[in-house]
Amino acid sequence: MCGIVGYIGISPAKGLLIEGLKRLEYRGYDSAGIAVLGDSGLHIERAVGRVAKLEAKLEHHTAFDGSLGIAHTRWATHGGVTEANCHPHTDDKAGICIVHNGIIENYAAIRTWLEERNHTFKSETDTEVLAALIGELYDGDLEVAVKAALREVTGAYAIAVICENEPDVLVCARKGSPLMVGVGAGEYVVASDPSAIVAHTTRAFALDDYNVVRLTRDSIRTSTIHNKAVTPKVMQLEAELGQIELGTYDHYMQKEIFEQPCALRNTLRGRVDRDEGRIVLGGLLSRAKELVRARKFILTGQGTALHSAMIGEYLFEDLAKVPTEIEYASEFRYRNPIVEEGTVVCAVSQSGETADTLAALDEATDKGALSLGVVNVVGSSIARQTDAGVYLRVGPEIGVASTKAFTGQVTALTMMAIFLGRRRLMSVEQCKQLIAELESIPDKIEQVLQQADQIKAVTEKYIHRENWLFMGRGYNYPIALEGALKLKEISYIHAEGMPAAEMKHGPIALISEGMPAVFIANRGAQYTKVLANIEEVRARGGHVIAVATEGDTEITKVAEDILWVPEVAEPLSPLLTVVPLQLLAYYAAVARGHDVDKPRNLAKSVTVE
Ligand code: M6R
Repeated sequence: MCGIVGYIGISPAKGLLIEGLKRLEYRGYDSAGIAVLGDSGLHIERAVGRVAKLEAKLEHHTAFDGSLGIAHTRWATHGGVTEANCHPHTDDKAGICIVHNGIIENYAAIRTWLEERNHTFKSETDTEVLAALIGELYDGDLEVAVKAALREVTGAYAIAVICENEPDVLVCARKGSPLMVGVGAGEYVVASDPSAIVAHTTRAFALDDYNVVRLTRDSIRTSTIHNKAVTPKVMQLEAELGQIELGTYDHYMQKEIFEQPCALRNTLRGRVDRDEGRIVLGGLLSRAKELVRARKFILTGQGTALHSAMIGEYLFEDLAKVPTEIEYASEFRYRNPIVEEGTVVCAVSQSGETADTLAALDEATDKGALSLGVVNVVGSSIARQTDAGVYLRVGPEIGVASTKAFTGQVTALTMMAIFLGRRRLMSVEQCKQLIAELESIPDKIEQVLQQADQIKAVTEKYIHRENWLFMGRGYNYPIALEGALKLKEISYIHAEGMPAAEMKHGPIALISEGMPAVFIANRGAQYTKVLANIEEVRARGGHVIAVATEGDTEITKVAEDILWVPEVAEPLSPLLTVVPLQLLAYYAAVARGHDVDKPRNLAKSVTVE
């Protein structure tokens, strides 16, 4: 939701922190702030708007000279988007300065308690309350005060804290929100994710929940908030700088759409054995027996991740013949779901940090389910909290609109379905055929991407339209939902996705002269039914844009515009049909002049419920 970065070391902190904020900006971008502690004391600057605004403000400062500092880019939760609510926040007593990602749920009660002790507040934020609580409990040792304060709070936090009285100490902690510590030579960089670390060091560890790390320039001490010593597991970060840089592209979303062939080759690499008709998923092997005997799968996630879970439901039932349900994690979490013996809950998430999905996972595991993660970010909370799982390996996804993670998730779920299916009812021949088709997907996506200019031209024809419908059936019903979500989240055009048959039950009333109706009409089991639905739209003056299979002559008779995809086995068709819709949304947002990678009101990683 927000991004935090901290530095203690030998170099000037200011430039490094600003560079880190820019890399984390996709996590939240309504305001930003920085604090640096050096020989000339503590200096703080904040700005409403993007990190660039903060940077511009800093140009006039000469005082930010220290090599210890913290910084923050915000997605507002408590309190409006104002400079007063920007982080870093300070206390009113002990020289405490803090940046925070997450929500302190009991902040109101703590604030009342502090006000009774004559503390005053300048902002509406829960974070300032936490700063004041640490200050109230401060007695000469920052680490001790932070731990004491965290024992009193409920909610989620990743924090970095400094104190004017201790100019050589940076204290960080986490519960429920991600925080990584990069370990360099005589310096440490802490950040919400590795993208702000890899430029400085590739050795890092993820802080666990309830853990606190105290950093000085030459020492590191990790323990729990209850003072139990912890030995951090330092790992090698895999992300390279090139992966998180824009290169020749205009936007990260564009880069990530075009990266999909390469990304999916990575997802598949070493995991498919076409000759033997086998899928090798190392992350599932330790639980293979339980998975094969499972009586039910529940796939869960939010947003785009839920759409890939929906395709997973079709794949698991169709290929592995195992009963499967999908549910919004946010709903699953609060409806006291029945989790019977033999239930496997699988959380699908790019970031691995989505609060709703984590909460659903907790609910399911408390009730005895085996838990799986289909996650992109290595070492993320979901990856660490699940019994087994499959990494997407599509590389860092920075654009807020999820694209390559979606196709990575669908590819991973397809491999899981074949992995289970082969051990249940699928024949070797069936598996061999499907694996061969799966391996052809990256090349086929390349063919779709070659039509980018045509897709752009079609999009621009309809760009003035404020209402769009997206419809599909079977495996491509979730693609209708995904196409609509992509369009609305970055172009702010109202779009609805639905099963094509559902249109007659109400939404058909919306169709008016020239309204764009996108049909996913690739050749598959329900193709003729989709054609009938297209006719219903045409009869009411709607303009049909069809995503169709190359060589289909029928479709040319009924659709105004056609976005072509190569022929492929139906269970794999979503991996192709989604691509023109990603491009359509991208070109619509560009044509409307929007900030494609940082759409209004959104943040990449939603770490609040
Ligand atoms: O990180 P996650 O995959 O768990 O995120 C889930 C959703 O917040 C995410 O897919 C969101 O819907 C995207 N903005 C869609 O493009």
